[in-house]
Amino acid sequence: MQLAMVGLGRMGLNMTYRLLKGGHRVVACNRSPQPVRKAVKAGAVGSRSLEEAVSKLKPPRVVWLMVPAGAVTRAFVEKLSGLLQPGDLVIDGGNSHYVDDAENEGKLAAKGIRYMDAGVSGGIWGLKIGYCLMLGGDPKAFKRVESALKTLAPKDGYALVGPVGAGHYSKMVHNGIEYGMMQAYAEGFSLLKAAPYGYDLRRISALWNQGSVVRSWLLELAEEAFKRDPELKGLKGYVEDSGEGRWTVLSAIERGVPTPALATALFQRFYSREKDAFANRMLAALRNEFGGHAVLPSRRPRSAYRAERGGGHAVLPSRRPRSAYRAERGGGHSMNRASR
Ligand SMILES: NC(=O)c1ccc[n+]([C@@H]2O[C@H](COP(=O)([O-])OP(=O)(O)OC[C@H]3O[C@@H](n4cnc5c(N)ncnc54)[C@H](OP(=O)(O)O)[C@@H]3O)[C@@H](O)[C@H]2O)c1
Repeated sequence: MQLAMVGLGRMGLNMTYRLLKGGHRVVACNRSPQPVRKAVKAGAVGSRSLEEAVSKLKPPRVVWLMVPAGAVTRAFVEKLSGLLQPGDLVIDGGNSHYVDDAENEGKLAAKGIRYMDAGVSGGIWGLKIGYCLMLGGDPKAFKRVESALKTLAPKDGYALVGPVGAGHYSKMVHNGIEYGMMQAYAEGFSLLKAAPYGYDLRRISALWNQGSVVRSWLLELAEEAFKRDPELKGLKGYVEDSGEGRWTVLSAIERGVPTPALATALFQRFYSREKDAFANRMLAALRNEFGGHAVLPSRRPRSAYRAERGGGHAVLPSRRPRSAYRAERGGGHSMNRASR
């Protein structure tokens, strides 16, 4: 089939490559020209604007958006509502909030244009392995794009999971679960590291990936990370979030569904960004107030507290001249370099 891929970032460009390899005709569209050149080199039809991309598709057209969620995606939907014709189809494959889907659908439906939402999982590995695709929308629209979905996904890796909104909602919960699983591994490995047995964490993750109950792709990635940097000394323990974890917890609160593991995993990420969390200072201060318990004074010259033990502050990872990490490894999520 033919479609336009709008947004040739880490996801959109690799998806374009996969579609081209599968024999589809792809009109490549991106704000900056470089990724379009790359796509054209791989066999795509290039375009310099959304208008040009739309003009290079034969009706009924399919336009796949792979741009940042929120204002950028909404602006593209708005623009497409003026460029496309009745019978055309827009698919939003970004990590949009599911509440945006009803609005986008309404805007396009007013012009007779169809809309589907696609939860896409697979990250930078999707090019090789395929992308897990969770579609929300009308079964007829789904049928229309099924051959492209088949190419993008691994075997049995795509499905229509419900009406418009259901694709992004399921991707949101998927990411909420991802937060929880990552937190569980991080805590467990932290405990192994503190144990007196000198565990080789790479070996343990490799071992657990062979038939154990907790084997998983995340654990395979942990194995890779420990292979590169056994103590993970090359990065700071600073963890970003990109929205879905928050929306998962908000939706759980709205529906009264208990999700303590997912909520804790999200809050732990917030904590990771605080160098010397106010909440922890307050805990120490209160213990000191009611029981005279020891506190570690801050490095400020005139601290209200006196050190009662010899130790100083916990320190951030030491300077490491050759970090095993780059801020953006091969398009992966950005990581903090080791302090320099
Ligand atoms: N990375 C993942 O693992 C992953 C997984 C599933 C879903 N997603 C979702 O997929 C979407 C794309 O993610 P990505 O990782 O490919 O992002 P990315 O690498 O940052 O690429 C973003 C793309 O959007 C374009 N863009 C950004 N701001 C724009 C604007 N104001 N106007 C026009 N174009 C703009 C960029 O164009 P330029 O090249 O000109 O900057 C680029 O093509 C996002 O919604 C993301 O949440 C990501």
